[in-house]
Amino acid sequence: MSWTKSLRIGAVVLLSLLGGCAFTDPQSTLDVAGPIARSQLRLFNLTLWLGAGVFLIVAVALIYAVWRYRARSDDTELPPQIHGHALLETAWTIAPALLIVIIALATVPVIWENERISRPGDGDILEVNVTGYQWWWEFEYPSLGITTANELHIPVGQRVRLNLTSDDVIHSFWVPKLAGKKDLIPNQNNVMWMMADADKPGVYFGQCAEFCLTAHAHMRFRVVADTEDDFGAWVSAFQNAANQQVVAEPQIQQGAELFMRKGCAGCHAVRGVAQGQAGPDLTNFGQRLTVGAGILDNTPEDLARWLRDPQQVKPGNYMPVLWDENDTNAEAEIAALVAYLQSLGTAPAQSAQAHP
Ligand code: CUA
Repeated sequence: MSWTKSLRIGAVVLLSLLGGCAFTDPQSTLDVAGPIARSQLRLFNLTLWLGAGVFLIVAVALIYAVWRYRARSDDTELPPQIHGHALLETAWTIAPALLIVIIALATVPVIWENERISRPGDGDILEVNVTGYQWWWEFEYPSLGITTANELHIPVGQRVRLNLTSDDVIHSFWVPKLAGKKDLIPNQNNVMWMMADADKPGVYFGQCAEFCLTAHAHMRFRVVADTEDDFGAWVSAFQNAANQQVVAEPQIQQGAELFMRKGCAGCHAVRGVAQGQAGPDLTNFGQRLTVGAGILDNTPEDLARWLRDPQQVKPGNYMPVLWDENDTNAEAEIAALVAYLQSLGTAPAQSAQAHP
């Protein structure tokens, strides 16, 4: 292949790879929405531009040297060798050392500041215990008496301290737009803090960033940064869910009964109804945005798809298939479970009655 042809192919490949870049993608670290992510972006930019400067100087020097000292047709012997040139050796030892000092001077204060802010006992900070499971997330708010899964609600403009641990293998908590990664390690409590900007309520994507076997890539979550009012409403919905009520509607009632009979309650908790520990807590599930740790939207169609065959949606996860293919009741039962699950936390109080 001629070199012009290789160049052309290379350019096409590079350009198509560039098509994958965008500053505002849901998981872009270049479009930040909180002070931690912003301090990290500043450090990234500093090292990026320092690196670009070094690249430019080296590239220009190299191109100049190649051109200026190229072999000429009348050259018969080697040019003078400068191996062991003391001045050059000293210069290219000192220059990188200086760069490292500059980067350290910028980085160390950021580390100290983050460390200081996340220290326990520092008032006005919302505490959340985060536990990683294969392949979902548990979020517990000790001061609010709330346990939920896969969707972390936080009030905007509020510092949140995350106490990170794992139930099984090592995972890593990462919300690119809000804060960098930190590992969740069994039998160890790692701490980080983050905050969403007061003027940027919204839904932020999170992702497990440490390979944790089969469904690692599907171990996602959402951070829902609420306004103060929305967060208050979310909290009271949990505090009012002392016994998760069942709407007096035949299909929903049937779903509640199936939740027990099909064994869902053995793995999932629903406040006042079931205490399963193996899978995500489903209290107020109807308010969730997603199903299966952030991989499907919580719509009736997607939830039914998940219940019908969780392994097809998220291979390797621990949720069993509850209906065999010859079960003629399957679709009706799935629809009833969908209706029940989506009623949790969304049922109007007046039409609710005690769980059967
Ligand atoms: Cu959990 Cu990767």
